[in-house]
Amino acid sequence: MEYRRILVTGGCGFIGSNFVRYMLSRHPELEIWNLDALTYAGNLENLKDLEGDPRHHFVRGDITDRATVEQVMGQGIDAVVNFAAESHVDRSIHDSTPFIRTNVLGTQVLLDAARKHGVRRFIQISTDEVYGSLGPTGYFTEETPLAPNSPYSASKAAADLLVRAYHHTFGFPAIITRCSNNYGPYQFPEKLIPLFIANALNDQPLPLYGDGLQVRDWIHVLDHCHAIDLVLQRGLPGEVYNVGGRCEKTNLEVTRTILQLLGKPESLIRFVEDRPGHDRRYAIDCSKIERELGWRPQVPFEEGLRETIRWYQEHQDWVDRVRSGEYRRYYELQYRDRLARASTEMPGSQPH
Ligand code: NAD
Ligand code: DAU
Repeated sequence: MEYRRILVTGGCGFIGSNFVRYMLSRHPELEIWNLDALTYAGNLENLKDLEGDPRHHFVRGDITDRATVEQVMGQGIDAVVNFAAESHVDRSIHDSTPFIRTNVLGTQVLLDAARKHGVRRFIQISTDEVYGSLGPTGYFTEETPLAPNSPYSASKAAADLLVRAYHHTFGFPAIITRCSNNYGPYQFPEKLIPLFIANALNDQPLPLYGDGLQVRDWIHVLDHCHAIDLVLQRGLPGEVYNVGGRCEKTNLEVTRTILQLLGKPESLIRFVEDRPGHDRRYAIDCSKIERELGWRPQVPFEEGLRETIRWYQEHQDWVDRVRSGEYRRYYELQYRDRLARASTEMPGSQPH
């Protein structure tokens, strides 16, 4: 590994914490600075096993705070991997303000400081959602025009354009990755898979939006971490790399598999009012990273899901802690009325 000191932002969230652990186990010589504001989604407990490890330096701070970012960047950082973001689409529909602040302004602050301190690589962790929604066929390639549909994806697309412009204008060595839906341990239970596992374990209803036939392309979080590691080491500045699991599933299929693996009845499913502007289908063409960097997704979905379910079963205390406080308020806001009007019958299929 060419880089010795890496700044990981958002390293206490779902993907960030998996990435910090992954990198320190694969590259024992690395030092990681982890800058995280510990919002509702950030949890130091996610990295409890690294307590006392001198290679992990945690800094509680906000990526929009220039002074803090400057201070961290001044530690001789060689490369930045920017995970820090507001990441949940439904929350961006309730209030997009923190999304614009962190995802757009925060990225700009990081870019300026990284440029000033001569950082040699900047990896922007973006998402396939910037491409918008697909019909029943076709795939997102790196050339697909950006057409974000939610305030979340619009803020991520804005950040991507800033990163692109810093490369074009200043020759800044930045790379963008765009990955599909991740699942695995430590995912906050507001997202489909951990929410449905947690609810099913407690015999609570599973609120499927609309007809449940929306399609997502699922990838295990460690396959995503491996892709980022390769992009950091061998990706070319100015390039975009799509990352996907080659694993398209409807939400209904995923829900049924979770129930089946847990031995719970399908009567827990509730069809609830749809997410406004809900993207119908995502599917990633990841042939570029496969061809150019030799990456492949390794974890079969059923196996990864089984393991993820086991993790949530064994970490019920983690789930209980993150589901208290702010989470309860959010759950009420997002689901109370929806569940009150829910149906156990699938509504008529919706157009793409
Ligand atoms: P997450 O919500 O679990 O974690 C986000 C982390 O960022 C948290 O630790 C939070 O405390 C931190 N954070 C938020 N605002 C901050 C700020 N202003 N300053 C510093 N830290 C801040 O998110 P995730 O699911 O792990 O996603 C990580 C990144 O990957 C995001 O950029 C997201 O857009 C992208 N992504 C996610 C997925 C997915 O399926 N989850 C897929 C593709 C891309
Ligand atoms: O595609 C990558 C993106 O995947 C990331 O950029 C985002 O950060 C991440 O949150 C995720 O976005 P989605 O909106 O696809 O994920 P979410 O888990 O919220 O929803 C997955 C699908 O399940 C989506 O079609 C909406 C549906 N859903 C979700 C929830 C939370 C439901 O039907 N019911 C629910 O309660």
